[in-house]
Parts: sequence; structure tokens; C-alpha cells
Amino acid sequence: MARTPRREALATGTSAAFALAEPRIRIAPSLLAADFSRLKEEIARVEQGGADLLHLDVMDGHFVPNLSFGVPVVESIRAVSKLFFDTHLMITDPLKYAAPFVEAGSDNITFQVEVAGEPNRVIDHIRSLGASVGVCLNPGTAAEAVFDFIDRVDLVLAMTVWPGFGGQDFIDDVVAKIELLRSRLRADQRLEVDGGINAQTVGRCARAGADTLVAGSAVFRASNPSEAIAELRHVAEAEARKPGS
Ligand code: DX5
Ligand code: ZN
Repeated sequence: MARTPRREALATGTSAAFALAEPRIRIAPSLLAADFSRLKEEIARVEQGGADLLHLDVMDGHFVPNLSFGVPVVESIRAVSKLFFDTHLMITDPLKYAAPFVEAGSDNITFQVEVAGEPNRVIDHIRSLGASVGVCLNPGTAAEAVFDFIDRVDLVLAMTVWPGFGGQDFIDDVVAKIELLRSRLRADQRLEVDGGINAQTVGRCARAGADTLVAGSAVFRASNPSEAIAELRHVAEAEARKPGS
């Protein structure tokens, strides 16, 4: 399996990919919004366009009412990209599928707290695979759901839409949860948002403490993904610096 630079960092035990190293603000295009008939070209566009991570929205048609892609696709795109693969498992059984996704080339595995019977067991399992670990909360899930083990993950992902589809409207109520989560996270842990992130919504997320910003439509549907990534980064960095953020 190709070892990306970030995978090397992870393998040496430094979750450099998730430590709060530079860049402070990271843009993670979601492959869900890409043209699946040209994935190699689509990924190259965002990789050359300044993406920091590639966000892989895996859906099982059970936890969410949609099916996206699985292990064979991750294996194929691993061979054509050096980006850090930030894999978001919107699936009912993360314990069962984490290993195949890491073997296929995922660098991070984020599981949904709503289906993690024993979250610490899921965290331990994912770490044992050599990947970094994230936990995701749906819009209706309170921040408190992760407080018992929040110190053990590299990243918390706050969904800003109900998972299942790209192109939805941003749910503004989640911003207060983002602030609360940030207040419980260490500086070396990441806070990611996903869903409806664009130039109009990214600022309030960054001001609330999000540092890793997933964007599907805003990037892959843009006429110039590089400019779209740069604009998201510019707005987020400006807002993250504002006093009180
Ligand atoms: C929802 C997906 C979307 C997607 C981003 O399950 O996770 O949030 O990645 O979609 P956009 O950026 O188009 O809202
Ligand atoms: Zn996602």
C-alpha cells in the first residue's frame, strides 16, 4: 500500500496529519460531489488546486438513505493521489469495515457516534489499524454524546446537514455545538464540519472553532475548484483570526 507523507507521519505515531500543525485551516473537498466517471481527473484538479485532505463520504444505504462508494473505489484512487484520505464512514457497522478501508488506503477513519455501541472499542480498533480516529455527530446529536471519550480522538466532525446527500442547506443551529465542542478539544485535536459549507457559511464555522472544512458542491461544482478552495481558505482564515473566535 502506497505510504503517503501523512501516512508516514501517522505510522511513526505522530498524528502529524491531525496535530495542529500548519495549515491551521484545512480544506477537505468531498469526493461525493465529484464526477464519478472521471475520478482520477477530478481528484487531480483539487489536489493541484490546494486541497489539504480528500474527504471520502462512505454511505451504506442503511445508516443513511443513500449508497455512495466502497473499498474498491478507495483502492483505485489511492494509487492516483497522495492526498490524506479522510474517510467518513456513514455506515451502521464501523467495527466491521474500518480495516478494509484502512487497507485500501484511508489515513483517517471517522465513525458515527450514533451507531458506536462501545465508542472506546471502535477508537481502539481504528488506532490498532494505524489510522487516525474521528467521531461524527449528526445535527440532532448533542455534543455531550462524545464528552466521555472526546480526549481519545484526533478529530470531531460536526455534521452541518443531515447525512446522506450533498448540496443541502447549512443548518445554522449547529454553530453553537461547534463552539461547545471546540471548548472541550485540545489544541492538537481537530474540529471538522461537513455539509453546506461554502463561502457564505464557512466563516461562522471557523469563527466558532472549526478548522477542517469539508466542501463538496462548493468545490467540485465550481468552474474553478482552485479558486473555490482559495476563497474558502481565505474566508475561514480571516474569521478564525477575529477576536473571540
Ligand atoms: C452528507 C455529505 C455531504 C457532503 C458535502 O452526507 O457528507 O455533507 O460531504 O456536501 P456539500 O458540500 O455539497 O454540502
Ligand atoms: Zn462527510
